[in-house]
Amino acid sequence: MPHAGLVYTYQAMSASGLPELQVEVRGGLFLHVRPIRPEDEPLLQEAFSRMSERSVYFRFFSPLKRLPEELAQRLALVDYKDRFALVATTRAADGHEQIVGVARYDRAPGTDTAEVALAVVDDYQRRGVGAILLGLLAQVAREHAIRRFSLVVLPENQTMLALLRRLGWIHKATLRGGVYEIEFEV
Ligand SMILES: CC(C)(COP(=O)(O)OP(=O)(O)OC[C@H]1O[C@@H](n2cnc3c(N)ncnc32)[C@H](O)[C@@H]1OP(=O)(O)O)[C@@H](O)C(=O)NCCC(=O)NCCS
Repeated sequence: MPHAGLVYTYQAMSASGLPELQVEVRGGLFLHVRPIRPEDEPLLQEAFSRMSERSVYFRFFSPLKRLPEELAQRLALVDYKDRFALVATTRAADGHEQIVGVARYDRAPGTDTAEVALAVVDDYQRRGVGAILLGLLAQVAREHAIRRFSLVVLPENQTMLALLRRLGWIHKATLRGGVYEIEFEV
């Protein structure tokens, strides 16, 4: 299903047999979207270092100054079924690959619900990257019999709330303990 701002210029298979895409986002920027790999850990660290304190707080609910190594390892290592992450990448001027956005899900064991997290590096926000990653992640999730996404969003995170609203995905939002617990069908 096509998503706003998404242009499929090619659809290839990665070495793992999983699809890779090239997408065009607002501003005429082309990004590569692919499943995360264990060796992406340093790229995750580097992407984190380019995120503002505010974005880090909205994503991790904690004022982390750097991404702890253990967490970075865990984030880069998925099973492509119950835990999945898609990264959007670009090439820096020197040619090395840079992560600009990550969308992931983590299935609650034995259920058809998965918790979702999304982050886009500040310089690449507001170009539709978040919406594209979330839409593609929902497709992947459906292929793995995940029916619902759940996520926790801070009430001041109006961008994320607006993004979910625009996608028509706020089916159930409960304000509990100062955060919104949101669930939607994928
Ligand atoms: C929330 C977040 C992931 C959104 O990513 P993003 O790439 O900026 O999202 P999008 O560009 O798809 O949409 C965001 C904004 O761009 C606008 N936009 C997107 N595509 C657009 C288009 N084609 N035309 C016009 N506007 C567009 C949207 O209206 C939206 O604007 P808003 O601020 O008024 O709501 C990003 O801000 C982020 O990483 N924040 C920190 C971490 C976080 O909050 N994560 C969520 C909790 S897990």
